[in-house]
Amino acid sequence: MVHEMVFKECIKNGYSRESAHRVWDIASHDLLYITPDLTHGFLNLKKFSRYKTNVINRELELVKRHAPKFLSAFQEPFNLIDLGSGDGTKATTLIKSLPKHVQLRYCPVDINRQFVDISSSVIHRLNSPSVSSIKPVVDKMQNLADIAGMLRNSKYQKNVSLLLGSTIASFEINDLLFELSKDMFRNDMMIIGNGIR
Ligand SMILES: C[S@@+](CC[C@H](N)C(=O)[O-])C[C@H]1O[C@@H](n2cnc3c(N)ncnc32)[C@H](O)[C@@H]1O
Repeated sequence: MVHEMVFKECIKNGYSRESAHRVWDIASHDLLYITPDLTHGFLNLKKFSRYKTNVINRELELVKRHAPKFLSAFQEPFNLIDLGSGDGTKATTLIKSLPKHVQLRYCPVDINRQFVDISSSVIHRLNSPSVSSIKPVVDKMQNLADIAGMLRNSKYQKNVSLLLGSTIASFEINDLLFELSKDMFRNDMMIIGNGIR
């Protein structure tokens, strides 16, 4: 049984081929946020106190405690590429924990335009001296090789990517890391947050 909404989305997205078979991936992450209701459903997870304490707050603590150790040494402005940005809560915490001399351009990347809009405006309202500008990107993170190349320029030569909220667990990990690493340069960085069971 496939819900009609998911069924329609699968038809719209098309199929891949495995030998003689046509495959529609109903486990695809893209299907989790296809309506505004579903998007709000994800954001409402924050209100579920056990999830907030055991998942969200733990990662926020880790980000706060460790990210500045890596990023404080950066003297040049860099792109902070927030892969699967969600509502920008994690990036907010990270940015707040940085010393003022650290300069970055915030680049939320999400397949869901609503999340890109929300995270962009949350960071804009933060009014942090560390954020020199915001460059929203509505796209699949699997296209990071192109996105990272497009974002790198003479002012922002370095990319720091965030892959937080156990997003990696929704993908085939090696495939995703291979795609994401394609346009990483030597001094680029990726900060991954994932639950361990
Ligand atoms: C589990 S949430 C994590 C959100 C945020 N990083 C956090 O830690 O709260 C996954 C996010 O990834 C986005 N997403 C899912 N698949 C994606 C893809 N292929 N490309 C870009 N974003 C994707 C979703 O829209 C959602 O915002």
